[in-house]
Amino acid sequence: MPVLTSNLGPRGSGHPGDARAGAYQENRAAMLERLTELESALRQARGGGGDKYVTRHHARGKLLPRERIELLVDRDSPFLEICPVAAWGTDYPVGASVVAGIGIVEGVPCVIVANDPTVRGGAVNPFSLKKTQRAGQIARENRLPLVNLVESGGADLPQQAEIFIPGGAAFRDLTRLSAAAIPTVAVVFGNATAGGAYIPGMSDYTIFVRDRAKVFLAGPPLVKMATGETVDDETLGGAMMHGVRSGLADFVAEDERDALRLARSCVRNFDNTAKTRMFGVEPKYDADDLLGIPSADLRVPFDPREILARVLDGSEFDEFKPAYGPALCTGWGAIHGHRVGVLANVRGVLFSAEAQKAAQFIQLANASGTPLVFLQNTTGYMVGSEYEQGGIIKHGALMINAVANSRVPHLTVNIGASYGAGNYGMCGRAFEPRFLFTWPNAKSAVMGPQQLAGVLSIVARQAAEAKGHAYDEEQDRTMRFMVEHKVEQESAALFLSGRLYDDGVIDPRDTRTVLGLCLALVGTGDRGQFGVFRH
Ligand code: COA
Repeated sequence: MPVLTSNLGPRGSGHPGDARAGAYQENRAAMLERLTELESALRQARGGGGDKYVTRHHARGKLLPRERIELLVDRDSPFLEICPVAAWGTDYPVGASVVAGIGIVEGVPCVIVANDPTVRGGAVNPFSLKKTQRAGQIARENRLPLVNLVESGGADLPQQAEIFIPGGAAFRDLTRLSAAAIPTVAVVFGNATAGGAYIPGMSDYTIFVRDRAKVFLAGPPLVKMATGETVDDETLGGAMMHGVRSGLADFVAEDERDALRLARSCVRNFDNTAKTRMFGVEPKYDADDLLGIPSADLRVPFDPREILARVLDGSEFDEFKPAYGPALCTGWGAIHGHRVGVLANVRGVLFSAEAQKAAQFIQLANASGTPLVFLQNTTGYMVGSEYEQGGIIKHGALMINAVANSRVPHLTVNIGASYGAGNYGMCGRAFEPRFLFTWPNAKSAVMGPQQLAGVLSIVARQAAEAKGHAYDEEQDRTMRFMVEHKVEQESAALFLSGRLYDDGVIDPRDTRTVLGLCLALVGTGDRGQFGVFRH
């Protein structure tokens, strides 16, 4: 290959006649001057809102945006900052109150956008908006995940006319990334009020810092003005409220460092095509325990995490949304090196929150092309007026819709009970999991034998009363006994397997091997065509 020659020749002496004398030296001096100006602009940007605000911020036990980024990205990896001197030469602070760039998180290049809360409370001005939009464009064009490190006073209020209307694009673009299966994460360290609340609202994954995140459409003063309600920050939009009640927070972090650790674990689970590092690592616990953990009496719940600890590679499990809908456990792990998402019943009954969490989790698995494993141990969706009024049918339908239309491969194991519509929501046979296995102890029916016999009895009693007949109690007792016995028999694993309602009854100790073999066959399926909705 030809080697270029330079007119400057080799490094010279700098004497007259030398190509590096004269104009060259003048140019060099001018360039160094410009570089000094640039360095000073960059220093201004890095200085954020200045010593007073930086000191106050640190005194509050908070990290600066660049410190947050440093903890988020892989140790000693490069960070390519973009538009670092945005707003230079304008009335706005240099850097535009936001840091943006591309960094490597868990080996995955991500676009990272971090508000600088020391600059006018992290408020968004027209230049911040342009900068974050540019970051979003880079994420979209290059299919890079976007991580938002949020702490902002929202719109720079005196400038609202410049940003209110165009600012909607920030939320539009976030959800379009999600729809394109480009993952988005919002880590909320402080204020995310009004429009700002839609940054976590539109993101696939959300992490809120306990006692710090404040996410509401209107803060307490505006609520007081609008509705007369007196309410404090935590009740209105604190991390715990969103983690446990509203479900807007997928994770509640103990502090900022914990939040950034959680963000890294989210990124780790984004892409199923990324090779897992846990290949073939045996679980830390003995599979033999799988004989003793499932309750012989199905009415006694058992913790499916005990099962997962004996099935997943290295017993490693990144639980998703653990504080919300705790009767259903969802999370990521691997089996014989194949990444999976897991949905496992914890306490039998499915409530609205569990159904909503399931639907969101299934969409996340579809966004990352990750197969799903359903561990069924459910007595169905919660009944009763409180739950009907709370929309349990609507939410159960949402979960069933997500299961039915999910495009990633599903594997189902009935490890205990599978009753009522819970069987449908947890991917029973009619929902066409690629494989479905049953443990020998497991049962499945429209409802439990006693409940079914009791319902028949009540219906028969009402029918007799309506006709003015006396109800035959003796016959009722006999009927109940017979029905209970029949349903009990028809619910048993062997009975169902005999009718090909599963692909086999397996020894619980073989679960990891059986699922590993299936996962080697099923591939990753298609990725979903919708973004992730947080229901
Ligand atoms: N627009 C313009 N300036 C803002 C601002 C905003 N949205 N939010 C904060 N600032 C300014 C403050 O006026 C203050 O300026 P000063 O130091 O020159 O007086 C500076 O930023 C720091 O604000 P301060 O309130 O001292 O900081 P804090 O860290 O204690 O609190 C907030 C930060 C963001 C929680 C608080 O300022 C706040 O609630 N702001 C309004 C949020 C809001 O309702 N926004 C509407 C969104 S549409």
